[in-house]
Amino acid sequence: MANASGHITWRELWSNTTEIVGDRSVARWLCETASGCNSTEFNAELSELVSARSGLHLDSMVRRVLDGEPVQYVMGRWGFRHLDLVVDPRVLIPRPETELIVDHVIRHVAGRPAPHVIADLGTGSGAIGLSLLQELPLGSAEVWMTDLSSDALDVARANAAGIGRPAVGARFGHGSWCAGLPNEMRGSFDVVVSNPPYIAVDDSEIDDSVRLYEPHTALFSGSDGLRDIRVLANEIPKWLSPGGMFIVEMGYNQSEQVRDIFVDAGFVGVVTHSDLAEKPRFTAGFLPR
Ligand SMILES: C[S@@+](CC[C@H](N)C(=O)[O-])C[C@H]1O[C@@H](n2cnc3c(N)ncnc32)[C@H](O)[C@@H]1O
Repeated sequence: MANASGHITWRELWSNTTEIVGDRSVARWLCETASGCNSTEFNAELSELVSARSGLHLDSMVRRVLDGEPVQYVMGRWGFRHLDLVVDPRVLIPRPETELIVDHVIRHVAGRPAPHVIADLGTGSGAIGLSLLQELPLGSAEVWMTDLSSDALDVARANAAGIGRPAVGARFGHGSWCAGLPNEMRGSFDVVVSNPPYIAVDDSEIDDSVRLYEPHTALFSGSDGLRDIRVLANEIPKWLSPGGMFIVEMGYNQSEQVRDIFVDAGFVGVVTHSDLAEKPRFTAGFLPR
């Protein structure tokens, strides 16, 4: 396959791999992973010969990519904001469109007295909650990360260990939505953030690789994709402090329905925010003071 000879440089192997997988960036990520280098280190390796072990590792990754497995699972890691997260089929691959939700949370808590009490419900890899801990001033936030999937929580815990000292504010809970939070914390959250499943079960726009490889509990939410957002909007008012914010990610075509769900659940100041592609992607609402 990519590594026929033991006398090939990384530059040549990257080029061969590009021809096989049809994407220069994907080929580069795979070569970096096989070489054990980060992107900067890989530049210095380009003229070095590839070891037999690295070549075999690359071959097995290329085979998986050609079989249709997402490259993020093949590499076992993926970037989200400033984090390099462990990802595997136990968790959704964190998406770039989710990154902006973190900014909305940071903006809401900025200027308010710390410590900020935040919940990231359906945390998956921990992408949102751990970004908050990493980016807010050290020690200024307690972030509760919960999931229905104990497998996902294992991944989130591993990722928390990877961020070092900021993880001091990390808390984990297992259960369906707010059932993963300790009862005594009702009424005390400044923010509840969630990227819940929001795809309708029969949505034909979903790529085969998503449907085949990513966990269905992370993707699908009833016949209209809104089952979980309805549950969350009804549960969360009991958990927020007065003026607290609930913000969710949603499908780009769900903004009107989600706004109605928020208003019906008693949230005020309901607002829709767009993602980087300028599609409506997040709805935020506030508990009346
Ligand atoms: C779309 S994924 C989001 C993962 C991660 N927050 C992110 O943004 O990459 C949805 C997550 O919600 C979790 N989930 C699904 N149903 C749930 C429920 N009833 N209670 C708690 N978590 C749930 C899934 O296991 C999955 O980790």
